[in-house]
Amino acid sequence: MLRRLHPVQPDSFDFTPANLEWARAQMTKYPEGRQQSAIIPLLWRAQEQEGWLSRPAIETCAEMLGMAYIRALEVATFYFMFQLQPVGTVANIQICGTTTCMICGAEALIEVCKRKIAPAPHTLSADGKFSWEEVECLGACANAPMAQIGKDYYEDLTPESLEALIDRMSAGEVPQPGSQTGRFASEPAEGLTSLTGTEGSRMNASVQLATDLGETLKRIDGTEAPILTKWRRTPDAAVDDRSGRDTAPETEPRPAKGTPVDDTGITEQEAEAASAARPRSKREPAGVRSEETRDGGKD
Ligand code: FES
Repeated sequence: MLRRLHPVQPDSFDFTPANLEWARAQMTKYPEGRQQSAIIPLLWRAQEQEGWLSRPAIETCAEMLGMAYIRALEVATFYFMFQLQPVGTVANIQICGTTTCMICGAEALIEVCKRKIAPAPHTLSADGKFSWEEVECLGACANAPMAQIGKDYYEDLTPESLEALIDRMSAGEVPQPGSQTGRFASEPAEGLTSLTGTEGSRMNASVQLATDLGETLKRIDGTEAPILTKWRRTPDAAVDDRSGRDTAPETEPRPAKGTPVDDTGITEQEAEAASAARPRSKREPAGVRSEETRDGGKD
């Protein structure tokens, strides 16, 4: 997308005293002679002050950093986080239109923006409160479709929920960011479908953070989710290839943690701990003696 400076520009730009002090402090973070590295923070603060980046604002930042105007313009026109035209006083809604969001309904969200805000992107609504634009992937693909509004992500959107968000913002509210369908993170919308059992949970990074309470897993947000995978009742029980679940008929309850699994009196947990503690070279199939054992540990 071609990004150009807005045809109507203010005459001048000045940082407020507080922002000027902040900007000068940013410049001290970089080694002598490398102050141009502060161009993005300075442009961002100028945009936060005015709502958008005007040409005088870009040039002021360039002058402060001793860099050519064109270098600062290159940065400002490259990143779509910089707004090169006035935006809504309440919100500029950035709809992700990249692949995942597109196939999950981003086009319907854009239709809402066209209807409720303005027919064309980068255009103010009639009351000046809102503007919208389509942007590239914002990295929340697992919760598509989504939009960035200000510094917040609103995810799992539908046309109805986006419409409601706009109405609430117009009324002065700040709706709760994040998933709008109640997902905690990016878990499957219908609940966990894989890596839900005792074995799987060891491999599942998100479930690793959970505490096994028996029939439920306590998640890091304090809620509990049922363990969907049945206990594998015998080591040789048939397991469904697709679901990974035990297909044998249920004949006995799942043994409590710490119950010996055979007549040696060793629990499964103890056996696993002992196995993990053994040096790798000594892990071998049962009944096979190593060279070291056969030779009494000596050459
Ligand atoms: S495709 Fe929309 S966040 Fe990645």
